[in-house]
Amino acid sequence: MKSYVLVGLGSRSKMFTNLFCSGEFKDSAKLLAICDINLGRIKLKADILSKEFPGLACYEAKDFDRMIKEQNPDCVIVCTTDRTHDEYICRAMESGRDAITEKPMTIDEKKCQKIINTAKKTGRNVRVTFNYRYSPPRSQVKELLMDGAIGKILSVEFKWMLDTNHGADYFRRWHRNKVNSGGLMVHKATHHFDLVNWWLGTVPETVFAKGDRLFYNEKQAERFGLSGHSERCLNCPVKNRCNFYLDMNNFEIMRGLYLDNEKYDGYLRDRCVFGDDIDIEDFMSVTVGYKGGAILNYSLVAFSPWEGYRVVFNGTKGRLEHLCQESSYINGDGTVQGALKPEGTLIKIYPHFKTPYSVQVKQGEGSHGGGDIVMLNDIFGNPDPDPLMRSADYIQGSYSILTGIAANKSIQTGQQINVSELVSGLKEPIFPPMPGENEQIPYVSDTGLKGGVVIK
Ligand SMILES: NC(=O)c1ccc[n+]([C@@H]2O[C@H](COP(=O)([O-])OP(=O)(O)OC[C@H]3O[C@@H](n4cnc5c(N)ncnc54)[C@H](O)[C@@H]3O)[C@@H](O)[C@H]2O)c1
Repeated sequence: MKSYVLVGLGSRSKMFTNLFCSGEFKDSAKLLAICDINLGRIKLKADILSKEFPGLACYEAKDFDRMIKEQNPDCVIVCTTDRTHDEYICRAMESGRDAITEKPMTIDEKKCQKIINTAKKTGRNVRVTFNYRYSPPRSQVKELLMDGAIGKILSVEFKWMLDTNHGADYFRRWHRNKVNSGGLMVHKATHHFDLVNWWLGTVPETVFAKGDRLFYNEKQAERFGLSGHSERCLNCPVKNRCNFYLDMNNFEIMRGLYLDNEKYDGYLRDRCVFGDDIDIEDFMSVTVGYKGGAILNYSLVAFSPWEGYRVVFNGTKGRLEHLCQESSYINGDGTVQGALKPEGTLIKIYPHFKTPYSVQVKQGEGSHGGGDIVMLNDIFGNPDPDPLMRSADYIQGSYSILTGIAANKSIQTGQQINVSELVSGLKEPIFPPMPGENEQIPYVSDTGLKGGVVIK
């Protein structure tokens, strides 16, 4: 039985508290205490948990060290805003505990170095919760690549679309400033760059990026006829004709979590998506060179009419294409944008010189494409050994953010950035073996082609 304390009691913490309340892992995981900087959210969470955990210990963030002393947990779950992750991860390790942290592990290279140094010094474990690896179709892509369906992977084309529901929400919240989130290159793309590292089984070496705030700005507000908007939705004079109006009063969960608790920390959850002080990009394009020679061409757009991604792997034996059109929601309000008639999820393989075929896609249920529940079982249950090696430590957590951190620097300087110059003392992660470099590929002619090439 492992014992836990949870720090950070916002929207995402529900995934963890639901788990403790469900009793599903009651023989392997026990919640001892909760902690946050906002007294209102502490009270709210304590109230929600009171049935399953009467008298649960609650602490304000300033009493974090006292909580560790008094509760003596095995592990600290970190679910706070991104910029504060390093602080709790390191304090957990310094006090002899392990840490489980939400993504991104942290937001810049200095904080990343601090985590690397503390992990090495203390020998404690940090686990980063990359739920995206666990969603069944993405795991399936990993299996196909590992099985050599397209041979050795030479290049990747990856385009991620955030729609005007989900994407816009980053421009309302704390994420809108790089000092809090590292921008979408770190906060969001950590998932995507982690997937690529893991799918390819290698690490990034060089990064070149361009990005800008093209849509969530004053010019676009003018195009929509929204000049004269307020700093936030609550009192905005143009809210009745704004497609981005968020009425927190209308959503019980949001009102309870944020609006009712503004008095404690001044945090406004419904700031205008066109606000002047936003300093994150909404369109980014990145080229990454990987150890072993593969090249990634990646883009992220945060103002798309539909949500999802396309990823294509070009290999020595052919091409794998994976499309996923997702439903998304405004975090916390429960609405699902399902009206788009999603094209669904597809995996297709185009072998060289052979007939292309579709692969029956494995589907999951629940949040994040069914990934959350599989991951929780892996963390808190008693899972079998995982041939896909989906669990991620601080080394993989570091590589997942270093691409985005380098991209931020490249956007700023116009230069290509060497990832190895950002941090020191970072070992390479261990991934499952991938198809080899020197595999001989036999001649085939099933499409009636008169010739063929043997790739050496
Ligand atoms: N894996 C995923 O798919 C996924 C999805 C959503 C969020 N997340 C991550 O979860 C984390 C939390 O996101 P969220 O949406 O719940 O945000 P949120 O704003 O709803 O909650 C953050 C909480 O942290 C608290 N907090 C802020 N500073 C603190 C400090 N110094 N000490 C203690 N508590 C502090 C806030 O009061 C708030 O309760 C983020 O890192 C986010 O990236 C991950």
